[in-house]
Amino acid sequence: MHSVIVMNAKGGCGKTTVATNLASYFANKGYGTSLFDFDPQGSSSRWLRERPEQHAHIHGIEAFRQPPAGMTRSWQMRLPQDTDFLVIDTPAGFSGYDFEDRVAKADIILVPVLPSSIDMHSTADFVRDLLLLGKVRSLNKQVGIIANRIRSRTESEHKLERFLDKLDIPVVARLRDTQNYVRAAERGLGVHELDQRDLAQDIAAWDQINNWVEQIDQQRIITGMPEARFATSSW
Ligand SMILES: Nc1ncnc2c1ncn2[C@@H]1O[C@H](COP(=O)(O)OP(=O)(O)O)[C@@H](O)[C@H]1O
Ligand SMILES: [Mg+2]
Repeated sequence: MHSVIVMNAKGGCGKTTVATNLASYFANKGYGTSLFDFDPQGSSSRWLRERPEQHAHIHGIEAFRQPPAGMTRSWQMRLPQDTDFLVIDTPAGFSGYDFEDRVAKADIILVPVLPSSIDMHSTADFVRDLLLLGKVRSLNKQVGIIANRIRSRTESEHKLERFLDKLDIPVVARLRDTQNYVRAAERGLGVHELDQRDLAQDIAAWDQINNWVEQIDQQRIITGMPEARFATSSW
């Protein structure tokens, strides 16, 4: 099983968009997929409630809630046995013990970033803090950037590219700024599930993210690198 955590200290950079699109992408490939929502705003849980039944199933857990009386946290966080991919959505400013604990458990960390100077600065700080966490280094976590809401050939795009060059972290994909994401979000879908013609560019970006994840999997097999396994079927 693989776990992909989507995080950035900044709000509005696309964490929920990346988490929900990734979950629906994996579910469509036939993988058992679970989506954990650590954000008290509950946006990805809401997205999942909107998801039409005929679309590939995603198991959702509102991890931001305390378990009800009589239920343990690990019971609340248990995963279906057939889970191949776990996608974790997090709130802005996710910090403290929970942050380190969750980072330690995830295999892959995806960091969405917007092409604005405020977002780039706070992402640089966030990535620096992330890489300083002992567990990110010692457990060989894979960290990737998703450049989000890109408008080609704009000044802000050029600034973002210069920023990304300096970051020294792989840029896994560039998602364009399009209402397709807003439309999909409202309906509990991923962009690739929209019934439209103009999706080729958007789908290509998700294929890239998938290829990156698969390539990490291959490396892991070749180098004997362990994936984060859990003692129980709970996360
Ligand atoms: N690539 C994109 N193109 C257009 N709108 C986007 C894109 N990514 C995110 N959005 C929109 O921006 C807003 C914030 O995104 P969201 O994923 O909720 O951010 P976060 O979870 O980091 O707070 C949402 O309304 C979302 O639909
Ligand atoms: Mg969110």
